[in-house]
Amino acid sequence: MKPLLVTSALPYANGHIHLGHVLEYTLTDIYARYQRMSGRRCIFICADDTHGAPIMMRARKEGRSEVDLITEMAEAHLRDFDKLQIRFDHYGSTNSEATRWVCHRIWEGLRSRNMISNREVTQLFDPQAGVFLADRFVKGTCPKCSSPDQYGDSCDKCGSTYAATDLIDPKSTLSGARPEIRSAPHIFVAVEGEHAFLEQWTQAEGRMPKEIANYLAGHFLSEPLRDWDVSRPAPYFGFEIPDAPGNYWYVWYDAPIGYVGSTKEWCEKNGESFDKWWRSDEVEIVHVIGKDIVYFHTLFWPVMLKSSGYSLPSRVQVHGFLTVNGEKMSKSKGTFIMASTYLEHLDPAYLRYYYASKLGSRVEDLDLNLEEFVQKVNSELVNKVVNLASRTSRFVAKTGLSASYPDDGGLFEGAAKAGDEIAEAYASFDSARAIRGIIALADRANEYVDRMAPWALAKQPGKEAEVQAVCTVALNLYRQIVLYLAPVLPKLAEESGKLLNAPMDQWSLAKTPLVGTPVSTYQHLMKRVEMEAVQRMIDASKTADAAAEPKTTTAAEAPAAEKSLPVDDGEALAKEPLAAECSIDDFKKVDLRIARIVEAEGVPGAKKLLKLTVSLGGDAKRTVFAGIKAHYDPKDLVGRLVVVCANLAPRQMKFGTSEGMVLAAGGEDTVFLLSPDTGAKPGMRIH
Ligand code: 2FM
Ligand code: ZN
Repeated sequence: MKPLLVTSALPYANGHIHLGHVLEYTLTDIYARYQRMSGRRCIFICADDTHGAPIMMRARKEGRSEVDLITEMAEAHLRDFDKLQIRFDHYGSTNSEATRWVCHRIWEGLRSRNMISNREVTQLFDPQAGVFLADRFVKGTCPKCSSPDQYGDSCDKCGSTYAATDLIDPKSTLSGARPEIRSAPHIFVAVEGEHAFLEQWTQAEGRMPKEIANYLAGHFLSEPLRDWDVSRPAPYFGFEIPDAPGNYWYVWYDAPIGYVGSTKEWCEKNGESFDKWWRSDEVEIVHVIGKDIVYFHTLFWPVMLKSSGYSLPSRVQVHGFLTVNGEKMSKSKGTFIMASTYLEHLDPAYLRYYYASKLGSRVEDLDLNLEEFVQKVNSELVNKVVNLASRTSRFVAKTGLSASYPDDGGLFEGAAKAGDEIAEAYASFDSARAIRGIIALADRANEYVDRMAPWALAKQPGKEAEVQAVCTVALNLYRQIVLYLAPVLPKLAEESGKLLNAPMDQWSLAKTPLVGTPVSTYQHLMKRVEMEAVQRMIDASKTADAAAEPKTTTAAEAPAAEKSLPVDDGEALAKEPLAAECSIDDFKKVDLRIARIVEAEGVPGAKKLLKLTVSLGGDAKRTVFAGIKAHYDPKDLVGRLVVVCANLAPRQMKFGTSEGMVLAAGGEDTVFLLSPDTGAKPGMRIH
């Protein structure tokens, strides 16, 4: 098998690592560790993503150089990664000579293919700070739903996207000044010439999850691809474009190049051939990314690589977002948890295990449900796995394992065979399936131990050999289980290796039983997780430095159109199939109107309800009870336009009469209110 180069998205140097990041690095680390254990050459490369306006502005605000800032952040990132047991072969920086060198080579490739052109771009400019403003640095009133305090690219309240220049009452978040509209020359890369290549490349079997390939085909590749704006005028923290002085490469030009630059550093340090790793077909490259940055990695990146003769990734693995207790991470609820806060309170093994047990190969969001977290770790990892060793090893601490492997009714052989299926699951990024397989083996091993009860045998004289045999079986089953868990729980594997005096670093070891070896005195391998510790972590996250929650991805700096939207994977439709056909006359009976929410409040005694007063224009007002309390803060709703069913028969409820219904998509867990486009007024009928 070809050597493998695996990457995770480069974390942005503007923020600390949080549990959302950890999901991705854990996923990649498990994959890389599995590959290494299976005997395949595999390097895991990453780096800090350091350039762009947010870094420049933050450094200015803190009165220090950008390099000082990114150096400190890289140290903090590496500290977290180390404690989380994420093992990179090399961790570089986009602000390195190696990355600059590759940026130049790729630029030469694009130029030589005549893919570069110049054009004026109109943007908001902060006259006080003297900089052009990325969309995230402008705030104002949403032009669609009139919600105040919205970013320059999209509205958090109604979800609509727009140009920063469309915001009502825009303000620079840097200085508070009202931005001016100015134009400046920008440099563009024409991607459309590679349309046919991208169609073939993105749709190739196994290249990326099917739902992502479909999404690209339906959203971007169904029409001509727009030229990509890759430059920013000075001042900007980044690399100056060699043939366009005063202009810098936009952070998203050099971010993925950081993968290559970081590998180059690794090659130089280890006497490896850079051309082999990035300019030959001798190596396979796999990128692991979140669904918000699919656009950059599957449309621009392959074109950049192809145009300059670099190797293309064979797979782009995409994962969903992290929610905590069913919701977006929230600072006020204490669920926006920094890795460092987590690590102060809890063992990283718990999180690695929990994530692994829930990460499948499909692009689905993963919910960290903290009660389930405690329950899963305790009942599966501690009770089923670690207990196997703790309740059997002491009986053989003096004798060691039997000299030959006893008859176990086929348990060891069965588990050895099951290893192939578990391996396949890891190799296809389906650690949830791997864990299910492993826990099934643990169940079987525990049944065996319960049945044989070595603690009872040990009390009977003359049963020493039997006790040794039973514990030899149990510890061999334990060893198989921990070998299979080793990509997820490297520390447990290492410690268990010490207990059994045999390393646990190769997948194939699970095929042959261990016999005649000494067993060390049992040392505590893992303790139960306590809900109180989780609660302390939540409390600490509520009080953690507010500055720790900036928009911490570079994606935040990208215009909305450059971000990937949620994947249209057909899941929602499959969950709730279409209702029976209705006639146009049936439909006309339902009178849907635009309404403005003029009052919103909680209902004492009702867990789910908000009481809304909606205006249909003029004096026409209605009271509507809506089951949206878990999803919306009443004060965010006031002023917002919604759609109501206005001729629904009034309904007497426990708390009052509901005189209509506010329309929303979703169901129990997620609710999205509907909003009209700009210009719609209360009272308008929806046809
Ligand atoms: O979205 C982000 O956080 C980016 N820093 C990811 C960059 S991935 C790669 F392109 F470098
Ligand atoms: Zn809005």
